[in-house]
Amino acid sequence: MNAFTYSYPVKQYFGENAAANYLPAELEKAGRVVMLAYGGGSVKKTGIYDQMISILKAAGKEIVEFSGIMSNPTYRKVQEGAALAKEKKVDFILAVGGGSVSDCCKIVATQARYEQDIWEMEYTDHKIPTEHIPMGVVVTASGTGSEQNNGAVITHEEKKLKAALWGAYADFAILDPAYTLTVPMKQVISGAFDTLSHAMETYFGRPGEVTVSDEISEAVMRNVIRNIREVITDPESLQARSELMWSSAMAENGILKLGKVTDFQGHMIEHQVGAYTDCNHGQGLAVIHPALYRFIYQSDVKKFARFAEEVWKVESAGKTEEETALAGIQALADFIREIGLPTAFAEMGIELDEETRKKIAESTVVTGGCCRKLTAADIEKILEECR
Ligand code: NZQ
Ligand code: ZN
Repeated sequence: MNAFTYSYPVKQYFGENAAANYLPAELEKAGRVVMLAYGGGSVKKTGIYDQMISILKAAGKEIVEFSGIMSNPTYRKVQEGAALAKEKKVDFILAVGGGSVSDCCKIVATQARYEQDIWEMEYTDHKIPTEHIPMGVVVTASGTGSEQNNGAVITHEEKKLKAALWGAYADFAILDPAYTLTVPMKQVISGAFDTLSHAMETYFGRPGEVTVSDEISEAVMRNVIRNIREVITDPESLQARSELMWSSAMAENGILKLGKVTDFQGHMIEHQVGAYTDCNHGQGLAVIHPALYRFIYQSDVKKFARFAEEVWKVESAGKTEEETALAGIQALADFIREIGLPTAFAEMGIELDEETRKKIAESTVVTGGCCRKLTAADIEKILEECR
């Protein structure tokens, strides 16, 4: 295992009625002006908005609404939120939504404390901001685990980049699985697949040797696979929703990553596909993963064979290590098809011509944690496989 330091700032309130039970006490610690941030309006349909307003009012807060945060939040939206937070002298941000709302708010919280453009600060000056407006997240759709960390994925439309920015950690996360009962099934599945992807991308990072982090990862992966099947069979199952919500948090709270350099090459490719197409994150990952793994598995056959046996229960007797590894990747591909996720970009209504594939490949970050260091030409080949 590599050396590591682990410290964790996000307090977790997990379970039914967590907002009613714990948000008031958390708000007591917050300043007077609270920005209530949310997405395109699902919170109003589900009643979560009304609940938040009544908790905020009971706490005596002045409420500043910041709404319309879109899926794959844009840098422009971040700047709009930061300007509003500055203008209204916001003391605390309450982000209510899925990964997009949480991501947007983490950077709003940070940008509002700086005059300098955050993108420039991080990507030109290579400085990580340290100041931010305190914030908390109420998760309404799980999968990304965004509420667990200080990374945010933001689409810079002018630069044609969907990239990570480092912003605020939430002081707390409210995780009420019952809030996710209204999430459309397509989003439940793509969100849960995102969790599986996070665990896989950490598992296949360096070092390849199996560590305690990897063994916890295997448990999380098996849990996600089982509960995706369960939630499809029984969409009202609060048990399955609970499991998926906590697995999502587990995959991004740092535990699986301890002692490892993560891979996340699939994510880097998907993010750039997203920069060009605004596609759904989990669906994009579903298309990319099998093609990526068929491309790289020979660089760590042993780990891919273990993945096959431990996660997919592939029978290795009578197979070479390579055959077992390939059977595991096939099991992943079969699962993607079984749960109704796309297996090609065409199924997502996306057509990437040769020139666009080249642009995506050339602008994709190549990660140091992947068992095979890809070139832009390699990524182009993978994208061709995904058509
Ligand atoms: O916008 P509204 O109307 O609220 O509707 C949302 C949205 O359409 C809806 N929704 C959320 N809660 C609901 C609900 N509908 C009914 N009932 C509820 N309770 O769900 C839709 C999707 O929401 P969104 O937040 O966009 O999805 P997700 O949580 O998958 O987040 C995706 C974003 O997170 C980034 C992705 O790249 C993408 O931009 N990621 C962030 C990560 C991080 N910070 O750690 C890690 C991930 O790898 C990922 O890249
Ligand atoms: Zn993801």
